[in-house]
Amino acid sequence: MAVDLLLGLQWGDEGKGKIVDVLTSNYNIIARFQGGPNAGHTLVFNGKKHVLHTIPSGIFHDDATNLVGNGVVIDPVIFKKELDKLEEQGVDYRKSLLISRKAHIILPTHRLLDAASEAAKGKAKIGSTLKGIGPTYMDKTGRNGIRVGDLELSDWKTRYRNLADKHESMISYYNVDIEYDLADLETEFFEAIKVLKSLKFIDSEEYIYQAQKSGQTILAEGAQGSLLDIDFGTYPFVTSSNTTAAGACTGLGVSPNKIGEVFGIFKAYTTRVGSGPFPTELFDKDGETMGRVGNEFGATTGRSRRCGWLDLVALKYACQVNGVTQLMMMKGDVLSGFKTLKVCTAYKYKGEEIYHLPYNIEPENVEPIYTEFNGWAEDLTAMSDAAQLPKALNEYIDFLEKELEIPITIVSVGPDRKQTIFRGELVS
Ligand code: IMP
Repeated sequence: MAVDLLLGLQWGDEGKGKIVDVLTSNYNIIARFQGGPNAGHTLVFNGKKHVLHTIPSGIFHDDATNLVGNGVVIDPVIFKKELDKLEEQGVDYRKSLLISRKAHIILPTHRLLDAASEAAKGKAKIGSTLKGIGPTYMDKTGRNGIRVGDLELSDWKTRYRNLADKHESMISYYNVDIEYDLADLETEFFEAIKVLKSLKFIDSEEYIYQAQKSGQTILAEGAQGSLLDIDFGTYPFVTSSNTTAAGACTGLGVSPNKIGEVFGIFKAYTTRVGSGPFPTELFDKDGETMGRVGNEFGATTGRSRRCGWLDLVALKYACQVNGVTQLMMMKGDVLSGFKTLKVCTAYKYKGEEIYHLPYNIEPENVEPIYTEFNGWAEDLTAMSDAAQLPKALNEYIDFLEKELEIPITIVSVGPDRKQTIFRGELVS
């Protein structure tokens, strides 16, 4: 069986967790392939909100196996907190949660290095979630990292010490004011390592290969969004992993010819958290309304998200890079009540009108060119059938489908599992 992918097409926070949760009943295995606890995947069902950071969003379904792939970076301390919450809710994760031996571990000093690096950058800071993601991937590519499988080796604590000592000297090199008590952080870390070691570690690429061969269905769950990809995002204001489709191949060990459907998730407008260019960002009442109605606060850091109109130039780029086969539009309900909606359909770039994402999208280089649409007044949150959607929303959707040449198969009209409208047959 092919592996289907589910990816965010903007700057993250598109609502991937909700859609994975909605789709999980179609799959035997849900696998995370990149990122770490910088992600915050929110799921709402039975009137309760759940936020997952590292654990795949299929964990609430009894029949699904949940795999943390080799491309993920794991902070044992945050992971333990997630497990504790699941336990409180009576989720029996032990039988359904598998961890790749090749996933890298975030050390307490990785988090400190993240903070030191950001502090040293001053105004040029990335706006990192400060979860140690960048420094951990740096150690991975620098061939210094500690992997989950290393915890089974007798000398892993010596390797830990050597790496943590090296990090401490790097922190002092930054010469910034970072207060910390490493002994305290290590007590918490080693307690959490014990819990991590009680879970099932596997050679995940072999597991995925055999699962595919035996006809099991697999959904790869992306984190962050395509515009935060280390190669194709708005560098340097990006995360440190490949958030795009290719990242699923390297982050799970799946060959490119075994990828099936690519579900692209996007919001009906755009948000971004942290620094970096955002051509359609709004600084007016409309942006404030989107933030308030859409409850646009980061699930991991609580920071308020910057809001703006839908950027079709950037969305097209993300569809191209990922080979998206089906689109899912989130938060359609948030746009109810706007008299006029705008979609950025081109950029003015060096005096010319262009339709692709150029190298530089800072405000001094690009100016968005908008196409306007009529808004709708109807509240969508209680709708459950595509036939109920207002005419103006259907026109908005039709336009996007035509421009992107990809069907929009789901329109989400609220955070709850139930607030999901299917538009025709979903291919999976
Ligand atoms: P880092 O990955 O924590 O280093 O953050 C790098 C950039 O990516 C920052 O602008 C973060 O705000 C952003 N970022 C990281 N993870 C997420 C996410 O899950 N959703 C939205 N933005 C994210």
